[in-house]
Amino acid sequence: MFLNLRRLCPLGSRAKFLRTIYPSNILGLSTSAKMSLKFNNAKRIEGLDSNVWVEFTKLAADPSVVNLGQGLPDVSPPRYVKEELAKIAAIDSMNQYTRGFGHPSLVKALSCLYEKLYPNKINPDKEILVTVGAYGSLFSAIQGLIDEGDEVIIIVPFYDCYEPMVRMVGATPVFIPLRSKPVDEKRWSSSDWTLDPQELASKFNSKTKAIILNTPHNPIGKVYTKEELQLIADLCIKHDTLCISDEVYEWLVYSGSKHLKIATFPGMWERTITIGSAGKTFSVTGWKEALAQAFWIDIKRMDDPECYFNSLPKELEVKRDRMVHLLESVELKPIVPDGGYFIIADVSSLDVDLSDMKRNEPYDYTFVKWMTKNKKLSAIPVSAFCNSKAKMQFEKFVRFCFIKKDSTLDAAEEIIKAWKKQKS
Ligand SMILES: Cc1ncc(COP(=O)(O)O)c(C=O)c1O
Repeated sequence: MFLNLRRLCPLGSRAKFLRTIYPSNILGLSTSAKMSLKFNNAKRIEGLDSNVWVEFTKLAADPSVVNLGQGLPDVSPPRYVKEELAKIAAIDSMNQYTRGFGHPSLVKALSCLYEKLYPNKINPDKEILVTVGAYGSLFSAIQGLIDEGDEVIIIVPFYDCYEPMVRMVGATPVFIPLRSKPVDEKRWSSSDWTLDPQELASKFNSKTKAIILNTPHNPIGKVYTKEELQLIADLCIKHDTLCISDEVYEWLVYSGSKHLKIATFPGMWERTITIGSAGKTFSVTGWKEALAQAFWIDIKRMDDPECYFNSLPKELEVKRDRMVHLLESVELKPIVPDGGYFIIADVSSLDVDLSDMKRNEPYDYTFVKWMTKNKKLSAIPVSAFCNSKAKMQFEKFVRFCFIKKDSTLDAAEEIIKAWKKQKS
């Protein structure tokens, strides 16, 4: 981890670091030009060397800020999950290397869990790969399957690493937007955001190697329907295309919606890489292993309301509704998510005066910086989830995370209500 961070550190601080260790007379100052070239980041990591999370997490680190930005739960993970980690840590042999493709008990637990959801058997040794986070799975899938010159369809808005990861392998991202139907006076829902079937079909061609799907969707919270997934499946089959299906919020689906796995559609199993996240599933985003026992506990009680896969969405639906009411109370129009733990809202109606802020970036970036500084409330700008052309379409939206303790949401509510009072 430390080495990785150092590797990606921008040239300025790296050069300073080197100068501190080696006096210039040892290296010889005339080498500085060469040195700066040598220590430049490789071109292929452009877009991965910095990101919205680094910038906005730093801003929200001020303890006086209520952090509804980055998608990290501040609610407790289930007690038994923490207990299992403690038990495992006490077994000496468990602290050493395990099977590289995934700890045997973990892949077995995963195959047992997913066999309940798929019509076929799953070979834990051949069909499941454990990586460091879903981020690692996305990286491995894209590196391992996409070639230079390939095209990859990405649906906008998208989890921000998709585009740089595709570019890093020399492939071309082909973007298609989710578009919202007119909503008139009714509540705006994530299900109002859809793909245009003809537009989607027009993006597929003989170079298309894959489409990246994300359901439930971050940041809109859209849960793709059977018909929408069938459309994607039909196009993947017609054009012999892979589907990388990012389903990290698979268990976080609210009343009235159902998460469907595109790999269960006829003809899709062999062309789909399904990506899940144990960190998201058990609200332990800092853990990347040692979760096998927790899966076993919940696999045995999947129909029980106590099962975390069932209890967490119930708990979160209350928090979602609270956020919807809170945002509506200040005349914002949130897009009510059907899944995930984020909610986005158009903030332009707040008409915030940003004239004393530097503006060489999309509106939402400046707005979130202003809000964090002046209101002590943080969020994430939604244009970070867009390719450069689409940024304008989403730059009035910001994303709030609601997997937070009631006390955190109380603090956010207090800030928003005081803001409203000040305005009226
Ligand atoms: C859509 C999506 N995919 C992948 C990830 C990465 O998940 P992980 O924390 O397991 O690396 C995230 C994290 O926020 C996400 O929102």
